[in-house]
Amino acid sequence: MSNSWPDYLLEDIQARIDIVDVISDYVVLTRKGKNYLGLCPFHSEKTPSFTVTPDKQMFYCFGCQTGGNAFTFLQKKENISFVEAVRVLATKAGVHLPEKELSPAEKALHKERELAEQINKAAQEFFHSTLLTSPKAQAARDYLSNRGIARDAIDAFQLGFALDGWSNLGDFLLARGYTVEQLDKVGLVTPKDNVQCYDRFRNRIIFPIFNVHGHVIGFGGRVLDDSLPKYLNSPETAYFSKGHNLYGINHAHKAMRDKGEALVVEGYMDVIACHSNGFPNAVASLGTALTREQGKLMMRYTSNVLLAYDADAAGINATHRGAELLRDLGCKVKVLSVSGGKDPDEFLRHHKPEDFASLVESAPSWVQFKLASLVKTTPLSGIDAKVKIVSEMANDILKTESLVEREGYIRLIANTLGVTEHVISAEIMRISAKNRKKGYFSDNSHSDSHTNMEHYQTEFANIGKENTLDVLRVKPGSSVNKIYRAENLLLRLMLLDPKVIVLVAEELQWESFTDTMHDRVLCLIKEAWQKGNWNPLNWAAAVNDEALGSYLAQISMEETGIGDVLKGAADCIQVIKGQQIKEKIKSLQEEARVLQNSGDMEKALEILLEINRLVKQPASGKNRSIKPSGKG
Ligand code: GTP
Ligand code: MN
Repeated sequence: MSNSWPDYLLEDIQARIDIVDVISDYVVLTRKGKNYLGLCPFHSEKTPSFTVTPDKQMFYCFGCQTGGNAFTFLQKKENISFVEAVRVLATKAGVHLPEKELSPAEKALHKERELAEQINKAAQEFFHSTLLTSPKAQAARDYLSNRGIARDAIDAFQLGFALDGWSNLGDFLLARGYTVEQLDKVGLVTPKDNVQCYDRFRNRIIFPIFNVHGHVIGFGGRVLDDSLPKYLNSPETAYFSKGHNLYGINHAHKAMRDKGEALVVEGYMDVIACHSNGFPNAVASLGTALTREQGKLMMRYTSNVLLAYDADAAGINATHRGAELLRDLGCKVKVLSVSGGKDPDEFLRHHKPEDFASLVESAPSWVQFKLASLVKTTPLSGIDAKVKIVSEMANDILKTESLVEREGYIRLIANTLGVTEHVISAEIMRISAKNRKKGYFSDNSHSDSHTNMEHYQTEFANIGKENTLDVLRVKPGSSVNKIYRAENLLLRLMLLDPKVIVLVAEELQWESFTDTMHDRVLCLIKEAWQKGNWNPLNWAAAVNDEALGSYLAQISMEETGIGDVLKGAADCIQVIKGQQIKEKIKSLQEEARVLQNSGDMEKALEILLEINRLVKQPASGKNRSIKPSGKG
C-alpha cells in the first residue's frame, strides 16, 4: 500500500508530539487530574465531556462516543485524509517521512507553501544576523536598547534589521538561487525587471510574524525615527493574512492556556514588553481591528480575554469593537486601562511589573468599563442622558449569560445613575421586547441579509432551533420539575407576547400555578390584563414587593430560547394541563377509594367512570389545536 508508513514511523511521530498540544489548537482544555477536559468539537454540548488522556495519548468524547489518537483527531477536525494528518504531525514532530505519491495539484501547492516558508525563514535569519552583527546596524541596536529591549527579547522574537539600501535582502536571496518572481510572491521585494528588484523593507527594525506553529509568515518593519509610515507590513498573500494571525501567538499560546486568559495589546512593542516583564500571554492584533478569525484563534486556548489597548480615543474605540466581537463569539472580556501610560509598553517602562499585575488583577469586565466610559462622556444631569445610557447598556446586559452577573450590572447601573433597580430592569426588558419585535425572532427578517444572518447565527444560535420540549426537559439531578419549567417558561412567554396571555386565559382559565412565585406573577398578569393595562414597564415599576419585583425582572430578561412563541406556549400549556389532569385523577382515585371503603359503590363507580374519561383524554389531543384567537 503506497499510503502506509511503517508502524515505527507513526510511533516515532506520536512519541514526539503531545496529543494535548495537538488538540489544544482546537479545543480549550482544562486539566482534571490525569486528564484534560473540554467541550467536544465534534458535537454541540454545554458541559465538557470531551476527554484527552496524555498517558494513553488518546481522546474520547463521552457525549458522542468519538475517540482516537492525534492522527484521527486531526483527520476528523481538519477533514483531511489519514495520510495528510500523518504528514502534518510529522512536520510538527520534525520526523522525516519518505516521499509519498501526491496528485500533481497537491504537489504544486505543497511545493509553493514550502518555498514561501523557506524564503521567509531565510529572510528572517538574514535580518536577524544583520541586526546582531552588521556594523551598519549600530543605530538599530541602540534604538532597541534605548527602548529597553534586551538581548533575550531580541532572540525570543528573532528581531532583525533591514539595512538602508535598495537591494540588500534581494541580492542575498537572489544569490541563493531564488527568483525575483518567487520573492515578489511572498511580498519581500518589488520587481524592477526579471532579474532585479527593490527591497520592500529598508532601514527598518524587523519584527518577524510567526504563526502558532512557529513558521515565519510575514514581517513588520518599524522606522528608527518619526518618519512615516511608522510601520510597514508584509502584503497580504496566500501565506499571510494579518486578520488571521496574532503577533506573539507562537510564544503566547501555551501561557494563554495555562493562565486561562489572553492579554490582547495593540502593538509589536507592547507584546515584547509584556513578555519581557512576566506577561507571556500577550498577543497583538497586528494593527488591524480585531477580527473574528483572531478571536477564534485565541479561543483555541482560552475564552477569557483581557483587552489592554492604548489609552487614547482610538484605543478605547477599538476596545469596544473588539469586546463586542469577542463577547459575541462567547468570550468573557475584561478591560485593562493603562492610566499611567500611553500603552502597555510605555506603562511597563515607567512602572514595576507588579503595578501592571495589579492592573491585570483589578481589570473590570467590559460591561463595567463601558458603563464607566459612558458616564464619563455623558453629563448625568438630564433625564435624557440616563435614558441614553440605559439603552446603550441594555443589549450588553441582556447578552450577559449569568443571572448573578446581570443582577450585579443592573445594581451598578442603578447606583451609578441614581435610579431604582426596578426601573432599570423594567426599562431593559422593554428594550428587549422592542428588539424582539424588530424581528430577531421572525424568520423572514434576517434571511435576506448576509450580515443579519451572521448576527442571528452567532447571537441567537439556539433560538428557534431549540424545541420547547427540549427547553422543558428536566436535566438529571435538577431540583425543579417539568411543571415548574413549563410554568416558568409560560410566564416568560406571556411577558413577551400578549397573544400568549389570551391563550392562557382561554386554555387554563387562569388556574393557579403550582409554584408560589409563579402564581403571584400569574395573578399580577391576570389583574393587569383584566384592567386592560398592558405595559410591563408600568407594572414592574408599580410592584412594591421587592422579591416579586426582582423575580419579575429576572424572568422578563431571561432569553426564552424559543423561536415560535405561540407554539412554545402551547407546549407549556400541554404540560401544565397534563399535570392538572394527573392531579385531578389522583384526587378522584383517592375519593373513589374512600367511597368504596364506605360502601357507596354507586358514587364510587361514577367517579371511576370520570377517571376513565380523564385518562382517555390526553392533554395533547386538545392542545394540538390550540390557536391564538385574536389580539388582546
Ligand atoms: P511604538 O510607537 O514603537 O511604541 O509602536 P506601537 O506598537 O506602540 O505602535 P502603535 O501603538 O502606534 O500601533 C499599534 C500597531 O499598529 C503597531 O504595532 C502596528 O502593528 C500597527 N501600526 C501602527 N502604525 C502603523 C502604520 O503606519 N502602518 C501600518 N501598516 N501599521 C501600523
Ligand atoms: Mn508604543
